[in-house]
Amino acid sequence: MNKRIISSFQKMIDVNSPIIYINDYDFVRIDELIANVIGSKNVIEWNPATGSTNFINKTSLAEISLVDFLQSKYTQEIPKSAPNPEDSFIVLKEIQDYIDDPKVKTLLALMSQRKLYDRKYERTIIIVSSVIKVPHEIEKYVSFLEIDLPDQAEIDNLIDQHIAINKYDKTKFTEEDREKLMPSLKGMSAFEIDRMLDMAMSSNGSLSADDREMILVQKKQMVKKSGVLELIDTPENIDSIGGVEILKQYLKKKSGVYAKLPEAIKFGVAIPKGVFLVGMPGCGKSLCAKATAAQFNNVPLLKMDMGSMMGKYVGESEGNLRKALRIAEAAAPCVLWIDEIEKAFSGVGGNNDIMTRMFGYFLSWMQEKKSAVYVFATANNADKLPPELKRKGRFDEIFCVNLPNAKEREEIFKVHIGKKGRSAIRIDYKKLADATEGFNGADIESVINEAMESCFLDETELSTDSILRVARDTKSISKSCKNQIEDMEVLFDENDFTNASQNPYWVLSKEERNKRKKARQQKV
Ligand SMILES: Nc1ncnc2c1ncn2[C@@H]1O[C@H](COP(=O)(O)OP(=O)(O)O)[C@@H](O)[C@H]1O
Ligand SMILES: [Mg+2]
Repeated sequence: MNKRIISSFQKMIDVNSPIIYINDYDFVRIDELIANVIGSKNVIEWNPATGSTNFINKTSLAEISLVDFLQSKYTQEIPKSAPNPEDSFIVLKEIQDYIDDPKVKTLLALMSQRKLYDRKYERTIIIVSSVIKVPHEIEKYVSFLEIDLPDQAEIDNLIDQHIAINKYDKTKFTEEDREKLMPSLKGMSAFEIDRMLDMAMSSNGSLSADDREMILVQKKQMVKKSGVLELIDTPENIDSIGGVEILKQYLKKKSGVYAKLPEAIKFGVAIPKGVFLVGMPGCGKSLCAKATAAQFNNVPLLKMDMGSMMGKYVGESEGNLRKALRIAEAAAPCVLWIDEIEKAFSGVGGNNDIMTRMFGYFLSWMQEKKSAVYVFATANNADKLPPELKRKGRFDEIFCVNLPNAKEREEIFKVHIGKKGRSAIRIDYKKLADATEGFNGADIESVINEAMESCFLDETELSTDSILRVARDTKSISKSCKNQIEDMEVLFDENDFTNASQNPYWVLSKEERNKRKKARQQKV
């Protein structure tokens, strides 16, 4: 355990916290931590399997229910003659299935209050559980102890321990092996690292840089099992995006850094944090996220859905977010895709406390991030964005994506006609672009899809005219979402975002945008 965990644990005890909650499943290590900080003589344990239990040798003292156990501990004073009885610390393990019982909740609250108000009652409760579940009624008595993932020194230690236990020839494991293995072991708990090293050693009886592949495969499995992130497999690459030249060049440059990250860091290059795209719906923002993972040497693309993280219990949502970010770090190098981030964080600053806390946690994680997790966030609406998101130090760059200009529309047509295997057909792309002003990429895709369908039914081949016919009957986004688009353009100007296109297409003229910008500012 690192020093920070030990000292925060000590501090929680010193400031008289009635309940300390440790969310971890590595019970052996947590026992070590408790023994290390408190000693083991004055600790008693309860768990669902063995009831009241001797903390040191794990023998069952009495198979009693949690309610009976707590009741007896609630009513017993701690006599002055024995200031350190064997039960001044109570460790409750895996009580998530019992904690909703009204009697359990009440007892935990009563014991907490007694600890706070009654000098004769010196009893601290430590909950150790693989899940976070804190009912509302006891929330105010609970302090969460965060178990950091092992740092480089601790991982080194774990490797050395494994080599020693397995009596493995130390000279065979070179410094180079260690250096190469280190990144793949980062971002996992000590428990997981132990398992990985066990597996690596048992698969071929040795430990070397060659075990990296196996470890990475295992890590992907971990992501799947976690349930808070989705691993996206996508065929898209940067050539399937039409237009947005500036953005594409930018991403290519970043991918150059990611391709040689260790060298880049050694050279003194800052690890890219991430990019944020704001813009009209259907203009390829999600598409860019997918293409970026491919461009970055096919690193995993992890999609984070903030909505699905919201839990019912105190601390659960934050726990899920922490878990997701931890896993992303474990899977690094990777792209962490947060789609439509405004939906998640629109309640920030209002009376949604949980959201505000989660947002704060996310921002500080972004700010301090040193791992190779490239964050790719997108938003369809710039109006509801919390201003903190736009400040320097979070994303490296914020791009706005406009509707495609004529040249870009030509390219998007080319992409989608190409996807239908019709690149060889002579098409007047300029004509198509001219006929589709105000269309977004998704509109163009649907025009091609419909044109393909009509051609199939009419038994003809795709042609400029057949596409034009469909385009004329299509209601583009700039007609169906006129106001939304105009408002967004004003916001682009107001925020001074970087344009994703060389010559961005604007629905409103510069003068009109300025006029509305001023009107907005006067309103505020
Ligand atoms: N610039 C583009 N180049 C090629 N196809 C595009 C482009 N923009 C949008 N599309 C098409 O429209 C679909 C929807 O785009 P998407 O990336 O989901 O938009 P957004 O996330 O901006 O709302 C994409 O799957 C793609 O087929
Ligand atoms: Mg999208």
